[in-house]
Amino acid sequence: MPIAAIYGPHDFSTSVRLPAAAPMPGPAGSGQRPTALPMPSLKWTPEVERDTAHLYERVKRVIPPVEWPLMAPAIRAINELKAARDAVILAHNYQMPEIFHCVADIKGDSLQLAVEATKVKASTIIQCGVHFMAETSKLLNPDKRVLIPDSRAGCSLASSITGTDVRLLRERFPGVPVVAYVNTSAEVKAEVDICCTSSNAVAVVESLNAPEVIFLPDQYLAKYVASKTGVKIIAWKGACEVHERFTGEELRSYREADPTVQIIAHPECPPDVLAEADFTGSTAHMINWVRQNRKKRIVMITECSMADNVQAELPDVEMVRPCNLCPHMKRITLTNILESLVYLREEITIDPAIAAKARRSVERMINLKN
Ligand code: 13P
Ligand code: SF4
Repeated sequence: MPIAAIYGPHDFSTSVRLPAAAPMPGPAGSGQRPTALPMPSLKWTPEVERDTAHLYERVKRVIPPVEWPLMAPAIRAINELKAARDAVILAHNYQMPEIFHCVADIKGDSLQLAVEATKVKASTIIQCGVHFMAETSKLLNPDKRVLIPDSRAGCSLASSITGTDVRLLRERFPGVPVVAYVNTSAEVKAEVDICCTSSNAVAVVESLNAPEVIFLPDQYLAKYVASKTGVKIIAWKGACEVHERFTGEELRSYREADPTVQIIAHPECPPDVLAEADFTGSTAHMINWVRQNRKKRIVMITECSMADNVQAELPDVEMVRPCNLCPHMKRITLTNILESLVYLREEITIDPAIAAKARRSVERMINLKN
């Protein structure tokens, strides 16, 4: 069924807006300046070439040989410093191939990263993703140091709604449970009943056994969920600035050019895009679909680094890559990952009172076995 209603910041005149930019770094966790390590040499030498040759094998289909000498020294240094810092690197599927295939220890979609974050043994987590993902890791690892290489890595969905907005929605719809997509700040997670990701959104909504649910902040994911369930969905007017740019017309033109092409799309896309897709799923579900179906030519309707990452892994599939980049994901680079390890920055901190409530919403989602 279509969504029942949709609200946005302008429907609540008392709502105090946060700036649309990404959150600023919090104060240093311990109050003490962390000790920096010496910055390693970044020279391209025969030793670097030898030590990174096995990693270049993984990315040679998507990174030209001429670029490798610029990346390999930082890659080798990052992999060495991880041990020195007792650190683990978590990377989202949208990270660039040199990060995803060459320095990440744990990779996946938002749900996989959240679940894997609960199992990390290392004392430091470097989150190669966006700020809300680093906050989620911190919520699940309050006693570990969680770093994000650039804390300006935001998300248009996370900045579309505040905790105040959620409280006002609750006043307008008393007793209606609230589900928040993980693409929200800890402040918003603290105000809701449960979180979800694009992997489990329908299951989370149905787990509440309620006739009506407030689902925020992605209006398109809300529409997708509403199309898959009988639960009445009240949505928020947020959107992903990357996925909302795709159009159904664009997808039709791919099919006209090659009627055998398979199109797979992320549920943050508008309904006219999803109507043209052969498969819709989270980033991890899309990757699994490609691995399992091995079609000749696949158009991946999502952030374009993910198609590069899959192309590097599966040379027999031709990935068509409409290149919509997420400017926030692209703030994470080899250079700032290296600086993050050398200087132990930028540390994620969350107000303990907010963290306790936000953690409960994330843990409820993780504990739903689906
Ligand atoms: P996934 O949970 O599907 O990885 O999505 C995260 C995201 O930010 C998509 O834009
Ligand atoms: Fe946010 Fe969209 Fe970027 Fe994902 S792709 S982090 S939803 S802006």
